[in-house]
Order: sequence, then C-alpha cells, then structure tokens
Amino acid sequence: MNKQNLLIKPENEAKIDKLISEMTIDEKIGQLNQVGPSALGAFEITLEEQKALLKAGRITKEEYEKIFSGQKWDNEEENVAAGKIGSFLAIRHPEKINRLQKVAMEESRLGIPLLIGLDVVHGMNTIFPIPLAEACSWDVDVYKESARISAKEARTHGINWTFAPMVDVGRDSRWGRVAEGAGEDTYLTSKFAAAKVEGFQGDDLSNSERVVACAKHFAAYGAAIAGRDYNSADISLQTLWETYLPPFKAASDAGVASFMTAFNDINGVPCSNNKYLLTDVLRDNFGFKGLVVSDAGSIGECLAHGNVADRKDAARKSFNAGAEVDMVSRCFVDYIKELIDEGDITLEQLDNAVRNILRVKFALNLFENPYVDLSLRETVCLCDEHRAAARDAARRSAVLLENDGVLPIKNKKKIVVLGELADMADEMLGTWAALGRGDEGVSLVQGLKNRGVDFTYSACYGVETPLDREAFDTAIKGADLVIATLGELRRMSGEASSYADIALQGDQIEVVKLLKESGIPFVSVLFNGRPMPIPEVKENSNAVLEAWHLGTEAGNAICDILFGDYNPSARLTTTFPNKTGECPIYYNHVPTGRPRGEIRHSCKHLDVPLDPLYPFGYGLSYTEYAYSDLSVELKDGKVYATFNVKNIGDVAGEETVQLYIHDVLASRVRPVRELKGFKKVLLNAGETKSVTMEVDINELGFYSMNMEYVVEKGDFELFIGHDSTTDLKAVFTV
Ligand code: BGC
Repeated sequence: MNKQNLLIKPENEAKIDKLISEMTIDEKIGQLNQVGPSALGAFEITLEEQKALLKAGRITKEEYEKIFSGQKWDNEEENVAAGKIGSFLAIRHPEKINRLQKVAMEESRLGIPLLIGLDVVHGMNTIFPIPLAEACSWDVDVYKESARISAKEARTHGINWTFAPMVDVGRDSRWGRVAEGAGEDTYLTSKFAAAKVEGFQGDDLSNSERVVACAKHFAAYGAAIAGRDYNSADISLQTLWETYLPPFKAASDAGVASFMTAFNDINGVPCSNNKYLLTDVLRDNFGFKGLVVSDAGSIGECLAHGNVADRKDAARKSFNAGAEVDMVSRCFVDYIKELIDEGDITLEQLDNAVRNILRVKFALNLFENPYVDLSLRETVCLCDEHRAAARDAARRSAVLLENDGVLPIKNKKKIVVLGELADMADEMLGTWAALGRGDEGVSLVQGLKNRGVDFTYSACYGVETPLDREAFDTAIKGADLVIATLGELRRMSGEASSYADIALQGDQIEVVKLLKESGIPFVSVLFNGRPMPIPEVKENSNAVLEAWHLGTEAGNAICDILFGDYNPSARLTTTFPNKTGECPIYYNHVPTGRPRGEIRHSCKHLDVPLDPLYPFGYGLSYTEYAYSDLSVELKDGKVYATFNVKNIGDVAGEETVQLYIHDVLASRVRPVRELKGFKKVLLNAGETKSVTMEVDINELGFYSMNMEYVVEKGDFELFIGHDSTTDLKAVFTV
C-alpha cells in the first residue's frame, strides 16, 4: 500500500489553502529557505575555483563574500520574524529552538512554525549501531525500534525532522558513506528503508514523539565513480531503476514525508536540478506528496558542476526541476522573486511548493504544538529502556567471521586486551552520532569491567599510533587469550571519507602477525565503518568478530557475544574484498561470457583468490544449521518455497534464512543471484522447523532495453540457505 496519501488530511488542506492565500510572495519564498549554523559547506570548492567564478562574473562580489566566507546567516531572529526562513539545519539547543519557534509563532505576521532538521541517523543521545552494522541484523523490528527511540529522543531537543534514512545502495567500499546505508543489496535496503520510515514517523506524525523522515540521497549517490564522495554517477537507466531507485520507492510507499536530492550528477545532470528525477520519477511515478529538500548547498553547487550559468540560473533550474527547500545555498531566497517577475517561475508553482512544505508542518501538528518541553530530556534520553535496546541492537549487528572454538570464552585464566580502540568509547559511536558522547558510552574495556572479567589492558598500538613493541611484549607475556582490537577511527568512514586503499592502517597487520608468532590464541575484534580487505586477520586469528561501530552500548554488547550470553546471528550485507582493487565488488553481478574460473582468460583479477574474502550474507554463530527438503510451488501469482531448517549444534540460535533467485534465460542478462526474501528463525538445539517463504512473481522482473518492466516467461532457479553461496536449489517455471 502507498501511504503517501496519509499525508493529505482534508482538515489540514483547507487550512493550508487559506494560509497560502494570505501569504505575500516573500513569505512564501521564506518557506523555501533553510538556514544552517553557517553557510560553510554551501560551496566546498577550492579558493581558486571560487575566485575563477568571481572573475568570470558568474557570481557577484557580494555573493562571494556572503556565501563563500562561511559566515553565519546574521540576525536569525529578525529574519524569522520577517518570514524569511522556513526551516533550520543542525541547531542542537532546545532553548534556542524554543526561542526561534516563539519568534516564528508570535512575531512573524502569519505565525508559521519552523521545521528544525538534524541528521539523527542512528541515534540522538543513545547511539545505535551505524546503519551498515544494524543492517547486518537482517531484522526489520530492530531497524524500526532504533528509529522510534531516536525520534523520541530527538523530539525532546526540539528536532522535528531527521535527514535519514540514507537508502543509497553502496557497492563500493572505498566510498566512506557505505557506513550510512544498509549495504550492497537493493531488496534488503528497501526493507530497511520502509522500516526506518515507519520507526521515525510512526502511523501519525502529529504524535509528539515522532519526526519527519527524509529519504536520501536521491539518487544513485552510491554509484560515485571510484567510490570518491560527490563524484559523478554514470549508469544506465536500467541500473538506476533496478538497483538504485527501489529503496526510494519503498521509502515513498512507506509514507516518508521528505526526500533529499543527491550531490552527484547522473549521466551528466546534477540530481539537484534533475527534472526527470525530481518530477517525473518522484512525483509522477512514485506519487510522492511530501517536500523535496536539496542537499547542503547542492543547488548553488550546480555552478561548479557547470550546467547553470550563475546562482540565479541555479535557482531557476533547481526549482523548475522540483526542489522546494534550499538547504543553505540561499539561491532561492535571493532569486525566486526575480524569476517570478520575469516569468521563469509561476506563482502556481510557488504555491505548490509552499503547500508541500506546509503540509509537513501541519502533519507534525506544529501549529498547535511548536514548543519542546525542556524537562523531557532528563527522563527520556539515555534511559534504561533505550540503553537496553541499543545493547540488543548492537549484539544483533556484530558479525562473527571466524571461530575455531576459542569463542565463547570459557575458563581463561589470563585475558589480555590490546589496542587503543578497546578503550575509546567515543570511537564506537561511528559517523553522524548526533549528540552521542563517548563519556556516556561503553568501550570494550568498560564492558569487560562491567562484567567483572579479570583482564589486563595495554593500549600499545592504535589505528594511527605506531606499535610500542616493548609494551606489547610485556603485555602478552603469560597470556592464555588475547583480544586484539583493530579497525578504523570513526572519522575514516561517513561523508567525505573515501579512501583509495581501505586496508588496515598503521601497524595493525604487524600486530596480527606478531600475535600469530607468539602462539597465544587470539580473537580479533574489528571496529570499522566499511567492509575491509583483511586476509591476514582471517588467516591468523583464532576468531574474528566484526563489531563495526556499534554505538553507546558497544562494549557491553561485544562482551555478551564473547562470553556466550548471546549467540551471534548477524550476517554481512556487503561483500568483503581480498584487496581494495576488487571494489566495486558485490554478489549480484551479472554473468559474463567468461565466468570467473581457474583458466587464465576468465573474468578475474590475477592477484587475488577467485572468491571474495567473505561473501554477502555470510556470518557464523555458536551453532550450525542444516537445510533440507526444499520444494517450490506456484500459486495465485506467487512462488512458495517450503523447506526444513535444523539447528544441528548444541545451543539455541537464530538463523537468518536467505532466499535468492536467478532468471536463467532472459533478453537482458540477469544477476547470478538476487536476494528476494529473508527470515529470522529461532531454533533450540536439535530443533527442526518447516519454513515457507513466498515471492510475488511481479518481483522477478527487470527493465527491458525499452525501459519496460517485464517478467519474462521461463525457468528460474530459487536458492535457500545460510548465505549468498548456498547451493540448495529448486527450479520453477513462470
Ligand atoms: C550530507 C547530508 C546531510 C546534510 C545535512 C550533507 O553534507 O550529504 O547527508 O543530511 O549535509 O547535514
């Protein structure tokens, strides 16, 4: 069901029309204007490029000073009172927010409240795992619950709009922003998108514990060439529609009330003035009824892209394409009036944009209730319930990659913990951690103390700190078990954090080799925001736990796994390469005429193994599962797969069952496998369950060369199992 229509409430529509009829043109344009803490970021281009624009007369001296100098938007309150600002970005002080709302309500002519936006991506005060980690839980209830809690905490600070979820498919781990999305798969990202929207917004935005969500970055931002942030996406329309758009459609269907344009261009047209995307796809095809915001400064940045002549042209093109709220570039507020006078933009268009913005403000019930109760923060944020949820989400997100039986830890006399990351609660918060604070979080060292574990700790090396060999040798002397922490600092993933080499930095690989030489069993615990090529860690460690950046409760959650209180159930949602040079690498590639194989003239790199280091969907637990008796049946437009899954180990566990399909013969070559379903199944030791999963036949299609969505008749293979390499297969014919 498409929930966009829920945004349209007849009782509000009448009020919106009345308000619009009373607004001046300037007041209407004010609604389109979003102001940030500074204009910095509006144009992150070099000084030379800025000067060149000035020299070419494409910006005025005044604009140059105002926009590029990074100075604050002056006189915020005065401008709110004058109706020149419709929303703010990244104000974190509830007192200030109340003050601004009061000015908007009482001093502006029409008393229109403000939208206050912030990137509440994976938590406000209580920080949950970064999205890439949380996605590994393959659990939509976890996705939803962390968003619900984040929204509740955000509202206690006066934030009513989050710039999340990011639903960009990320296939190239050089791109630092893979940390912010659900991974490389379109189907999983679509489920993640819908669950996040439901968690942030709930059923009714007028509930004062919910926030407006924002599907971003529209679109194909993750297709940046070479994984370099902000780079162009040069992709076919088929890839756009098959791989990158479905999660946005899922967010729209789930009722998301805002969309954000992406920084990149697609095939030469910047997303922020891309009419095809912002109008034809979003409004006409998806039926989206909320508001469209640009990314920070991205309307003005079209000058740097080079498809607009000046800032006025930037305003004209972006507005006409379908952008409505201008995040910090100020092009709209500076030029829309002139453009209307000159007939480039009509009043009707302006009214439509204002209507979409006011619709969101009414949906939030801000006209009745614009203020935040300052006393709520104390009891709501970081309360026991939220911490418990963050701990549970974290332990469901950490992926066990290797284990020779050393885990769960039992009867170890001398445990030694190594590495700076073990004692850095702040680093566990990951990218975009809103108001999360390290001193409110739990590091691994703290988690061990909380459990009363007897251990010794030596920092002795870090991500960027060279190995102190003497301290290392002293620390490991007489140890029964070492826990070595490895990975990346939080600033190494997220926005503007792309790397050409994503291997472990500094002396970390050296540490792994020395530990292997020592003969002492060791567990590697990885903290990172992207899949990393870690063959040395895989080969040498007795166990490897991919702990990502797990948030506030990281240390407690990791201990739950290390000591067996929780049986790991997470699975990778991105392929781990053997080397950076394999990126982009993803499981659902299409077959070539020379499939990867031992023979020289096959599609492969000569300097890495044929298989990725870890495949999509992979992950271990403290038990094992066996699958059998797969049968498929076609009925009423659906295919039903029925099979048995058995826990063949001696502890209870939760299996993440995965269903893949492959269209065997098609007019366009189809991926070797495509995820089309997943399910968490709880099984006691020795227990067998019969499971049935269904896939709608309509979901088996693709876009033809003429861009028609088709489900072609013929044979399909259906795979069921533990990860994307499963060979339990059945064939059905459509
Ligand atoms: C990012 C967006 C973010 C915005 C506002 C931009 O730089 O690309 O993801 O929502 O800033 O903070």
